[in-house]
Amino acid sequence: MRVEVQAVTPEQVEADVVAVPLAADSELAGTTAEVDSKLDGLLARLAAEGELRGDAGRVSVVHVDGKLGARRVAVAGLGPRDQIDADALRTAAAAVARETGGYAETVAWALDGALELSLEEQARALVEGTAIGSYETARWKADEPKTKLDSLILCGEGDGLAAVAERAATVAQWTNRARDLVNSPPNETTPERLAERAQEIASSLEHVSAEALDPDQIAKLGMGALAAVAQGSDNPARLVVLRYDPPEPARGDVVLGLVGKAITFDTGGISLKPSLHMEDMKGDMAGGAAVIEATGAIAELGLPVRVLTVAAASENMPSGHAYRPGDIITAANGRTIEITNTDAEGRLVLADALWYAREQGATHVLDLATLTGAMEVALGDLYAGVFANDESWRDEILAAGEASGDHIWPFPMHPRYRRYVDSVFADLKNSSDLRQAGAVLAAKFLEEFAGEGPWAHADIAGPAFLERSRGDYLSQRGGTGYGVRLIVELASRLSE
Ligand code: BES
Ligand code: MN
Ligand code: ZN
Repeated sequence: MRVEVQAVTPEQVEADVVAVPLAADSELAGTTAEVDSKLDGLLARLAAEGELRGDAGRVSVVHVDGKLGARRVAVAGLGPRDQIDADALRTAAAAVARETGGYAETVAWALDGALELSLEEQARALVEGTAIGSYETARWKADEPKTKLDSLILCGEGDGLAAVAERAATVAQWTNRARDLVNSPPNETTPERLAERAQEIASSLEHVSAEALDPDQIAKLGMGALAAVAQGSDNPARLVVLRYDPPEPARGDVVLGLVGKAITFDTGGISLKPSLHMEDMKGDMAGGAAVIEATGAIAELGLPVRVLTVAAASENMPSGHAYRPGDIITAANGRTIEITNTDAEGRLVLADALWYAREQGATHVLDLATLTGAMEVALGDLYAGVFANDESWRDEILAAGEASGDHIWPFPMHPRYRRYVDSVFADLKNSSDLRQAGAVLAAKFLEEFAGEGPWAHADIAGPAFLERSRGDYLSQRGGTGYGVRLIVELASRLSE
């Protein structure tokens, strides 16, 4: 999608549709009122009659032949005036894109000085909402009509507005690429395919290199945890590695380590999952997809921060050569792990990936993983949870998350939780029969492998893959690209 900022009024802008905002109180304000004065109060009359409403996500299209530069006005609801935030704008923009994308090639949005959000924040949210909201999930349907929308115009003026809009479009595009990986079926997106995808990114961008360790190399490095999860599958595992080395990094002391869980299909293994909705476990590589595509976004934007990305890619399958409950394995850092549940495979593959990221020089580590059902139970599909060994690093992740639209909330790491992953036989066990604090125990397990220096773990089991529409700009079921925006925001903050 092309994005352009034009110093024109929404009355003048030439587009198939010009969109203006309306709050739930139906009071026409700011640019919406200005547009309406060109329409002789038509919108105000329609609002008074209840034909135009400002509920969040609602869109009414009014034909205005001849009176404006555009043939149609889309009045987009923002919800209650005191709740208008970037998410409300994203949702409104997505609703306009979906409502008009069947016929409109060019949509213009009025930036509105009357809103509390700055013009930059508005531009960023409208671009994201339009690009993420017009994403098509049904790529595998034979006759699905495609959106015609290919150009977004923002009406407004301001230094740096165009740069903000362009950057948001780039990040949204990489977000949609992560969604493509997550939505793609597990027979297509295997560990080898993820390695290939990393290679594609490296070939298309400067200062990026890719590498993928195969099962022999994984075994040679002593990665017994990743190897154990992988051994039940006929699709060989890959440790996918991307390196981004910009010529002049802003901070010599920082290598951002991005670690992703990339279980391309999680059956649970011998501790088999129930069959109902097991198909959603194609999304168990969402952390890996996010770190891979976010690396592409960072490189395309040319952010001056060094990045080392490691995605632990494997299937988790039951078979005659699968690992079993009771097995004791040795991770790359030398710790022994008693397997008590083969469905707690994410923390195993991450254990070795975290070690590798540190070994390769990562100083500040963030891992993303669809790690526990418990996290989804706790926060639903809107927020991820974040756990960390370092408070200020955790706060940076929280700030980046909230600024980016990838919502994330802090969880505790009190030392007393550690005893529940103690094993009678080995250094650790990979799951507890305690039916409490499942997401925290998984994080306490990971902490043992996080090495020296700041580390944070984002459990994205809820927001990475929607079981159903959330009623917002991520309008459909499936992958959301969660994490790409957060990571890019974090990387920008490390570029100063
Ligand atoms: N991939 C799942 C977690 C998950 C569940 C993600 C639902 C998204 C939606 C993970 O590998 C898993 O199975 N975790 C177990 C851990 C348990 C065995 C300790 C879980 O949450 O039940
Ligand atoms: Mn599992
Ligand atoms: Zn899993």
